[in-house]
Amino acid sequence: MAADKPNARGPRHVAVIMDGNGRWAQARGRPRLFGHHAGARRVREIVEACPDFGVEYLTIFGFSTENWKRTQIEVAGLMSLFRRYIQKEARALKAENVRVRFIGDRVKLDAKLRGLMDELEEMTEGCTGTNLTIALNYGGRDEVARATKRLACDVANGKLDPESIDEETLPRYLDTCVLPDPDLVIRTSGEARISNFLLWQSAYAEYEFIDTLWPDFTRDIFGELVGNYGGRDRRYGGAKT
Ligand code: IPE
Ligand code: IPE
Ligand code: MG
Repeated sequence: MAADKPNARGPRHVAVIMDGNGRWAQARGRPRLFGHHAGARRVREIVEACPDFGVEYLTIFGFSTENWKRTQIEVAGLMSLFRRYIQKEARALKAENVRVRFIGDRVKLDAKLRGLMDELEEMTEGCTGTNLTIALNYGGRDEVARATKRLACDVANGKLDPESIDEETLPRYLDTCVLPDPDLVIRTSGEARISNFLLWQSAYAEYEFIDTLWPDFTRDIFGELVGNYGGRDRRYGGAKT
């Protein structure tokens, strides 16, 4: 395949690892949950900025399969924040024509939260604007394991011929099956790792690791990172021309 030209258009799908809420709160002498609340308040501005920057898909990491290791107080506080976030933002998201989806293993989330997630997905099903995907109890390895289990069931039931399995097969079983792969993955807070986020899907994503803590993230920073992407030359293994 010929090498790609530098991206003439911006990223169609941006994924964000919203990190640094705890440190932001600690720097202010406040409990970690104070940072999570401040972080949640940043989301609306970024969602609203997407159409202006040509971003059609925004995927945000809200809670990882590893985040259960945190204290019971923090985990319970986060779950209550997610419930409140959905209740508070649902109407505005719908009014903004935002189509909301959730990825991750819902089974471990409480019934009330799961109900709100289902409702918001249904409520915004007909929305044709920005596609907002929220990753809750999401882990890339867990997602691949769950996908493999479903794939294996299809093989066992005779629905899938093992000989036909190729690179296109597994993605159809992933939580992200209806989404394009992310073009750009942003991580805030200075950590340069992906922490189990979109492992399969990010094989050829561009990455931006920035020092800003998530509660300080703004539309302008988002715009700058989206703009930087335009200068990058994605070669997908091809040679530079
Ligand atoms: C990211 O912020 C939000 C979640 C993981 C839920 P952190 O809570 O990881 O903040 P730091 O990394 O401890 O500062
Ligand atoms: C990744 O951040 C998960 C979310 C942003 C929801 P973490 O703070 O949990 O990741 P590590 O522990 O630094 O790898
Ligand atoms: Mg963190």
